[in-house]
Amino acid sequence: MSFQRELKPSIYSVGAVDWDRRLFDELIPLPDGTSYNAYLVKGSEKTALIDTVDPTMTEVLVRNLEEQELGTGELGTGGINYVVANHAEQDHSGSLPQVLDIYPNAKVVCTPKCKDLLTDLLLIPGEKFITVADGETLSLGDKTLEFIHAPWVHWPETMLTYLREDRVLFTCDFLGSHLATSDLFVPDEATATATVYEAAKRYYAEIMMPFRTTIRKNLQKINALAIEIIAPSHGPAYNNPNFILNAYRDWASDEVKNEVVIPFISMHGSTKKMVNYFTEALIERGVTVKQFNLSEPDIGKLAMALVDAATVVIGSPTVLVGPHPKVVYAACLANALRPKLRFASVVGSYGWGGRMVEQVTGLLPNLKVELLEPVVVKGVPGEEAFNALDRLAEEIVSKHKEILKGE
Ligand code: FEO
Repeated sequence: MSFQRELKPSIYSVGAVDWDRRLFDELIPLPDGTSYNAYLVKGSEKTALIDTVDPTMTEVLVRNLEEQELGTGELGTGGINYVVANHAEQDHSGSLPQVLDIYPNAKVVCTPKCKDLLTDLLLIPGEKFITVADGETLSLGDKTLEFIHAPWVHWPETMLTYLREDRVLFTCDFLGSHLATSDLFVPDEATATATVYEAAKRYYAEIMMPFRTTIRKNLQKINALAIEIIAPSHGPAYNNPNFILNAYRDWASDEVKNEVVIPFISMHGSTKKMVNYFTEALIERGVTVKQFNLSEPDIGKLAMALVDAATVVIGSPTVLVGPHPKVVYAACLANALRPKLRFASVVGSYGWGGRMVEQVTGLLPNLKVELLEPVVVKGVPGEEAFNALDRLAEEIVSKHKEILKGE
């Protein structure tokens, strides 16, 4: 049984839906599974496959291609002439060796950097490649592929492929979402708002956010293109491109929201008391709060909250003179994701001493934040601690007013 659908006449989705995958890179939760989209473009003279699929699902791709009755390309039997590799990561390139075995005349079309990576990662021989410059085109007869170098979405070799005549932009990871769905396209506005927006934002937060400034450049680069369909290699395609382009413009902008994210953990309840008091103090003052207990966190939700927030306040008890290891994990992650936060602080407690605050803030060198006076108490929090938390809440409100007024 095959699973392929027509995106437009002579353009087919031939990839695989991975309903069961729950973790990516052994790190990123995939609550809604994912898909590895590959697209077959049949021109009047040549045929191109855009990306392949994760090696665990090669069989699905091969079956879908067989259904297309392409032949192998040998002895004039058609076949695939080009496999466009927009990105070298294995969830899109991992089936390339098998595809090249089945279609021996096919050439891999990619950026020079992608050629290097595919050579290292998949041992593909040099003679199999055609490298393309930024803006270069490749004719399939009545269809023309234009290659747009788009580095750092999210590896250095990434590119986009624009099918001029049909106005389809194949974006691979860029603008995609980890979402297993039977929908080829985002079906309607309600689904877009309720489901796809969140999946795409989670994807942006975990994969793209560290490259926010280059993402802005790449968004500008495709501004002039007439785009009818955006076809990413994860999640459904968009026949309303502005839905995802506008979301990305918002997420990647420098604008922050009047929001405080509080990732915390508490061992004996003192830090939790402080966090709960502080949360209410902020809410009373009109600030949106997103609180995350790190004992069993969904790090994707934490990453999503960090996309927009102006401030993070980390809550930790003191364990062996430092922060709780689960706080260390969250702080390392936040530092790696480089959200556009403006302010940070720490709250928590200790039993007999330690260097919890210094160690937490030392884990955040990538964040260009102003550090606000932490509130750390010995043992359970009392009136003095609550007053200090009120002062911190006041300071955050005033800092937010300042920056939000200026934007
Ligand atoms: Fe979907 Fe960067 O791979």
